[in-house]
Amino acid sequence: MKRTHNCGELRKQDVGKIVSLAGWVDRRRDLGGVIFVDLRDKYGKTQVVFNPDRNPEVHKIADKLRNEFVIYITGEVQNRPEGMQNDKISTGDIDVKVDNLQILNESLTPPIAINDPKEECKENDDFRLTYRYLDLRRPWIQKNLMLKSRFLKAVYEFFYANGFENVETPVLCKSTPEGARDYLVPSRVNPGKFYALPQSPQQYKQLLMIAGMDRYFQIAKCFRDEDLRADRQPEFTQIDVEMSFVNQEDVMEMFDKFVTDVMGKVWNFTPPRHIRHMDWHEAMLKYGSDKPDLRFDLEIHDVSDIAKESNFGVFKSVVAAGGKVRGIAAKGCIDFTRKQIDDLTAFVGRYGAKGLVWMRVKEDDVVETQVGKFFTTEQLNAFRDTVGAKNGDLMFFIAGPEKTAATAMGQLRLEIARMKGLKDPKRREFVWITEFPMFEYSETEGRYMAMHHPFTAPLPEHLDMMLSGNLKDCNAQAYDLVLNGVEIGGGSIRIHDPKVQEKVFRLLGLSEEQVKEKFGFFVDAFKYGAPPHGGLAFGLDRVVATLEGEDSIRDFIAFPKNTSASSPMDQCPSDVDLAQLNDLHISINIADKKK
Ligand code: AMO
Ligand code: AMP
Repeated sequence: MKRTHNCGELRKQDVGKIVSLAGWVDRRRDLGGVIFVDLRDKYGKTQVVFNPDRNPEVHKIADKLRNEFVIYITGEVQNRPEGMQNDKISTGDIDVKVDNLQILNESLTPPIAINDPKEECKENDDFRLTYRYLDLRRPWIQKNLMLKSRFLKAVYEFFYANGFENVETPVLCKSTPEGARDYLVPSRVNPGKFYALPQSPQQYKQLLMIAGMDRYFQIAKCFRDEDLRADRQPEFTQIDVEMSFVNQEDVMEMFDKFVTDVMGKVWNFTPPRHIRHMDWHEAMLKYGSDKPDLRFDLEIHDVSDIAKESNFGVFKSVVAAGGKVRGIAAKGCIDFTRKQIDDLTAFVGRYGAKGLVWMRVKEDDVVETQVGKFFTTEQLNAFRDTVGAKNGDLMFFIAGPEKTAATAMGQLRLEIARMKGLKDPKRREFVWITEFPMFEYSETEGRYMAMHHPFTAPLPEHLDMMLSGNLKDCNAQAYDLVLNGVEIGGGSIRIHDPKVQEKVFRLLGLSEEQVKEKFGFFVDAFKYGAPPHGGLAFGLDRVVATLEGEDSIRDFIAFPKNTSASSPMDQCPSDVDLAQLNDLHISINIADKKK
């Protein structure tokens, strides 16, 4: 059963050859006794023809063929008749006159139409995941997986060419408190004790630097028990990297090169040799996000100074309470209907905005608004000039605590861009976001938390400020790589001075005992000559999906979980035998569980 060719391979110059092909029946048509079958495999489709005159026995078997039967044929390549060529497929100039047919396996009628183009795959996600092995047979998903495979090859080549060692780190790890929730694995031989699956190989890769490995990379599976979204899976893959004797610029420089050498080559585009940098504070102000989509302008402006002088109670009181008023010019949106504006008001409400003020800029740049009586003409004109609005534009304003005003405005910016079709799928705008705050105050925890992770180093010029206890203004040597509004990677320079690390733990509210218990081994390691080091990790699935212009990473993962972190196909997670639980010294503490 040797194939001479695959189903995407035959061309005009093969006419006259006797060939053998194998694959799945994509479609079967009976045109007045002549049976045409599109034979499909990973490589493409080839039309094969069963003529009753050529071989009546074979023709009889062909009559039984149905979609997704697996067959093997032998026959002669011929030119398709004039006008019958199909330029949509690579083999469209030829077809194969079949002399021999073998049915290798039959198929039930598949519950999923394999040959539907992507736009027509309308089954719900769980249905597709239930029959994922058929869903994966769809050419457009196979293409995604093959693309990811090709990308990974280029990734390995890049790291080997640049002197990185590929080192594996454990999947059974110690649970550490910072970050998302851990997935836990009970230990049978250590009753009552648990491993955690790694949220990232962060600590191990730093230990590898202490071990003198100098440059490490790994394609690492990571596990995070967090709320799932289109761009988040409970188990995902990182391209994980760490380097010794480097500063932030060195790391970003290496990954500028990575973007050019790997992403640029695989996706066939030319990124800027040096990706631009943007200060986190600037990103939050101008784009209301730490992952700005720079494919379009729509900049946000702070108008607090104008707003606070007005007679508009909402604005005045917000600014008086230390909040901000932010505005944006929605270019050419003067015709937005009342309904559209109401919808946008409800939309920003989801991000915490208590309301949305809007103003129209009419002919001669005159500002018209329902709340006009609270503002002088000078103030209205100052709003207009600050946000850069012109005749034909609509202006929007949100007042609130700084973070709320920024993020709600950032979301409004994205929504306006969506409505106006400004998110050009062909553009690729990369940006490094730098100067992240080192700490972030958590209202729920009532304390400062590490914004990145507790091993991130402060900016050298902010070290003294941090040591003196000013957490608010202290920035970190941390950087994220953002592409078209998606955080595709992130990292930092790490603390290598054990005294600074101790201090950071203290500032994060961890006692000496807690540190000893949670990170004892890690802190100890730094006492034996840790080199300065730093690194980053890319989300592999996100990189590929974003470069393909897709929001969801699910079609780039062969067997993903659904939004409730389960797999409808193999029904995992699932109940386990009582005996298994007993072995693990575990009892289930759920009222309605009978087992
Ligand atoms: P971070 O938590 O930012 O950093 O993760 C790095 C990158 O991984 C991707 N990512 C995800 N992809 C899919 N599903 C998820 N649930 C998910 N969570 C994260 C993102 C993100 O940018 N140890 C540090 C890196 C370092 O400092 O070196 C870390 O894990 O694209
Ligand atoms: P109110 O005083 O609540 O009737 O609101 C008057 C106008 O101000 C309405 O158009 C509200 O949408 C708007 N508004 C109220 N709160 C805010 C806010 N925090 N930011 C922006 N606009 C607001």
